[in-house]
Amino acid sequence: MTGDLFESENEQPWAEPRGEGVVVLRRLARADAPTLLDDIQKIARQAGFRNMITPGGHEMSAAMTCAGDWGWVTDRKGYRYQHEDPQTGAPWPAIPERFSQLAGRAAEEAGFPGFQPDACLINRYEPGAKMGLHQDRDERDFSWPIVSVSLGLPIVFQMGGPKRSDKPERILLEHGDVVVWGGPARLNYHGVLTLKKGSHPLTGPYRYNLTFRKAG
Ligand code: SIN
Ligand code: FE2
Repeated sequence: MTGDLFESENEQPWAEPRGEGVVVLRRLARADAPTLLDDIQKIARQAGFRNMITPGGHEMSAAMTCAGDWGWVTDRKGYRYQHEDPQTGAPWPAIPERFSQLAGRAAEEAGFPGFQPDACLINRYEPGAKMGLHQDRDERDFSWPIVSVSLGLPIVFQMGGPKRSDKPERILLEHGDVVVWGGPARLNYHGVLTLKKGSHPLTGPYRYNLTFRKAG
C-alpha cells in the first residue's frame, strides 16, 4: 500500500452542507470501507447482484441487491419493496450491525437523530453504468432521510429539487463520502452520471453505493 492511501484513510471527515436538508459528509465511511466491502460480498453470496428490469422494460445498468426487512425491486409489474428476494424466494440478508451504525451516525450528523433503516439497497456500477434522475418515493414515511454511502470509484452525483425540471447540482462523490437528504429535500430528484473507467485499490473496476431507507 502506498503512503498516500494510508494518509487518506486517516483523513478526518468534514461536513459540506448543500442547501436545506442536504449534506455531504466527506470521507465519513472511509475508515470502515474495507469491512463494509467485506459485508457487501457476504450479502451478495446470499442475494446476488442482478440487473433488474424497469416497468418500461429497460434493464437497469447498475446491478443491485438488498439487505434488511425490506428490499427494493423493480420488474414489469412496477417498483416496490418486498420481504423476499424474488430470485430465491428467501428473505433478504439482514443489515449488518456496522451498516446500521454508520447510517445512524450519518443521519444524526445531518440532523436526523434516531434513524433506524429497515432497507439497504446496494448498487454496483461498472464503467458505463449510470442512474437517471428519479425520486425515492416508494417508502411509507418521508419524515426519515435517505443516507447514501459511496465506495470505490468516484462518480458525479446530481442533486436536483422536488420538481423534475429543477436544475440539478453536480457533486463529485469519492470513496467514503456519505450524502444525507431529508426534510424539505426528501423527495428531491437525484441520480448519477455515467461511471468512468478506473481502478480503485479496494473495489477494482467498480463503484458501490449503499442507500439506507426506512421503508416500512
Ligand atoms: C440511488 O439514487 O439509488 C443511487 C444513487 C447513487 O448511486 O449514488
Ligand atoms: Fe435514489
